[in-house]
Amino acid sequence: MKTMGQSVTIDPAASMSRESARRDIATTIHPYTNLKQHEVEGPMVITQGEGVFVRDENGKTYLEGMAGLWCASLGFSERRLAEAAYRQMLKLPMYHTFLQKATDVGIDLAEKLLSFAPAGMSKVFFVNSGSEANDTAVKLVTYYNNATGRTRKKKIISRAKAYHGVTVAAASLTGLPNNHRGFDLPIAGILHVECPHYYRFGAPGETEEAFATRMANSLEQRILAEGPETVAALIAEPLMGAAGVILPPACYWEKVQSVLERYDVMLIADEVICGFGRTGEMWGSTAFGLRPDMITCAKALSSGYLPIGAVMVSQEIYDALLKESGKTGVFSHGFTYSGHPVPSAVALESLKIYEERDILSHVRRIAPRMQSGLRRFATHPLVGEVRGIGLVGAIELVADKETKASFDVVAGVGAFLISRGHYHGLILRAMGDSIAFCPPLIITEDEIDLMLDRFGLALEDTLTMAQQRGLVAPD
Ligand SMILES: Cc1ncc(COP(=O)(O)O)c(C=O)c1O
Repeated sequence: MKTMGQSVTIDPAASMSRESARRDIATTIHPYTNLKQHEVEGPMVITQGEGVFVRDENGKTYLEGMAGLWCASLGFSERRLAEAAYRQMLKLPMYHTFLQKATDVGIDLAEKLLSFAPAGMSKVFFVNSGSEANDTAVKLVTYYNNATGRTRKKKIISRAKAYHGVTVAAASLTGLPNNHRGFDLPIAGILHVECPHYYRFGAPGETEEAFATRMANSLEQRILAEGPETVAALIAEPLMGAAGVILPPACYWEKVQSVLERYDVMLIADEVICGFGRTGEMWGSTAFGLRPDMITCAKALSSGYLPIGAVMVSQEIYDALLKESGKTGVFSHGFTYSGHPVPSAVALESLKIYEERDILSHVRRIAPRMQSGLRRFATHPLVGEVRGIGLVGAIELVADKETKASFDVVAGVGAFLISRGHYHGLILRAMGDSIAFCPPLIITEDEIDLMLDRFGLALEDTLTMAQQRGLVAPD
């Protein structure tokens, strides 16, 4: 495994059999997968990881340019996290936090997490995933407004293309049509406003700031149309990850927050991707100037090693929970595994590592290598927009640079690039034709260069394919 970075060869010792594929197809329903295609092609079976690399069952290695699912910040072989889990398993492998129970490790984690949190966060509620965090946030908003006697103030605004998860409320907050279609979502009381992507939705001649003003005005109009007394909160990712890494346009957050404040609408920051250093700041909220009332986080909280998430709230919100729960004598919300000691121990160790290794300084030091490297592709004939901050970015592929025309969805251009990336030993992710980059935060400059070199090969293969199929004009 020591040479994972260099090697993309087949390990002869590894089984070449696709027996694993047959067994997987026979047994498992895969998330976010074309189920029909999966029955024909089977899975890529990953069996090992080291640093920023993973290895498949055939011994081929891949640079994991997405940190798994935007989460393995400390890479795929951090022994301290494995040891923290093991120690905790031996000491107290399970306990819960219902009925006034706590664990020592849970208390340590809550204190540590709040010490990382932006100003104004006072209490934390633990969950197991980003979706659960956002579902919990929706329930807390309702509970808060019942406590404060504003019983009509319950609607939550989200944004088109936002990603907030897949449980019933979180999927409703998600602004992607495929998450609603076939599932009879969104549920009542959840609204969507426009996606603030300047490159795609800015009007001809409109400046970025004027676009941000238009977005904020449109939010205000929507609040007024619904009735401010019925609108409780806006939920938003500081930058929109699964939408294709869309950065807020200049002055957007300043303008949006002044609208929210005008109508007493709460801001929930979904920090599930941005949290814990991804942008070069500990929080996306800090990077982009958000002043949230509530924060949801997950993923890098444990470097993705075990499932854990959290909702942090202000003292004002906590006081309302205290009051409302007094009516029944109990705060009737919680998961069996809220604050489970083993993921808590791993999360605590992750936060200690971020601090001890000064992960923020590392990200700030090497992010320019990735951001400038990505921007070198801006002149490529297939590249419409290059965007990013810190160690997260995206390249949007287009059929025509001048008109910004997208490829026909059925052409599957983004998916083709991803498969060529696999061939060249690189795992990335396509959101439509936007190719996302979100490597482990421990990546080195040499590994960034390797990631971009391999991406360059996949991009050239994609151009050749697009030319051969007449999807772009020939040279
Ligand atoms: C911003 C954001 N929120 C919420 C979620 C949902 O998290 P989970 O998949 O852990 O439920 C995700 C997952 O990618 C996310 O990117």
